[in-house]
Amino acid sequence: MDQAGGLRKKDIYGDVEGGIPEAASTFQKPVRVMTVSSGKGGVGKSNVVINLSIAMCRLGYRALILDADLGLANIDVLLGLTPKYNMSHVLNGQKKLEDVVIEGPGGVRIMPASSGVQELTRLTDDQKILFLELLDGLETDIDMLIIDTGAGISDTVLYFNLAANERIIVVTPEPTSLTDAYALIKVLYSKHGERNFRILVNSASGEAMGKMIFAKLSKVADHFLDGLSLDYLGTIPHDTAVTRSVLQQRPLLEAFPDAPASRAFRQVAETICRTRPNVNQGTIQFFWKRLLNV
Ligand SMILES: Nc1ncnc2c1ncn2[C@@H]1O[C@H](COP(=O)(O)OP(=O)(O)OP(=O)(O)O)[C@@H](O)[C@H]1O
Ligand SMILES: [Mg+2]
Repeated sequence: MDQAGGLRKKDIYGDVEGGIPEAASTFQKPVRVMTVSSGKGGVGKSNVVINLSIAMCRLGYRALILDADLGLANIDVLLGLTPKYNMSHVLNGQKKLEDVVIEGPGGVRIMPASSGVQELTRLTDDQKILFLELLDGLETDIDMLIIDTGAGISDTVLYFNLAANERIIVVTPEPTSLTDAYALIKVLYSKHGERNFRILVNSASGEAMGKMIFAKLSKVADHFLDGLSLDYLGTIPHDTAVTRSVLQQRPLLEAFPDAPASRAFRQVAETICRTRPNVNQGTIQFFWKRLLNV
């Protein structure tokens, strides 16, 4: 680490003769990068991220969760894990990325970001380039990057949504969840031209209610936001097994695989893996570059 506590190549790769490995700077691969966001907090995003990721792993996709919820990063708590390090340790040169990524249940890997997320946006240009080079190693073995952005319309939430290729917005039947989701979609659309969103209804009494909630949201959006594309992704039913799994700090899919919500998560994961929204996928490099504004 240098005097200012910043990242230097040596900190990432050590004192290796020849510097950065060739593959690290040239490797490019399409990785699906999707955010999971909501207008209102507490609608079930973190549970969605965990269980969809596990379901995707079971379908043979290698999923990495980026816990980018600044205020209340809690993927680790939901899984009973205690990560020692987060992205800020990488950014200040104390740790390598592989020391920060942890193995979760069901084959998922988790990159705890927490305070590192804010630091990401404040890096110097040199540090940004180094950070991108550092990420290459990880990208060789993931298919999906699933980002828990936290709730609301903070800059961080917007950054991640704009940098990702796919956006999942979680809503519940509560009227405030719908109005807040609309507010988030409206900012991303009106101020930033983002048109594609997939809506996942959580905690509904069943599929019929989920579709009704989706119809409500899309009716308002269609009326006020011309040219917007909202897709119905699916419905996760309200299920006490979710709360019980949270209390056990275990993922629902592992604790209660036969629960109705587990079945729904598997179905939604299949839908995601089977279908891609009509968007430019780009590479994961593009995602980080957009995010870091390089
Ligand atoms: N389908 C469901 N059925 C029943 N309860 C649910 C369901 N989904 C979520 N919950 C409950 O809602 C709580 C909040 O879920 P979660 O932590 O995933 O929300 P969040 O959107 O990530 O919250 P935050 O915005 O604070 O990060 C869970 O602890 C669980 O008790
Ligand atoms: Mg959360």
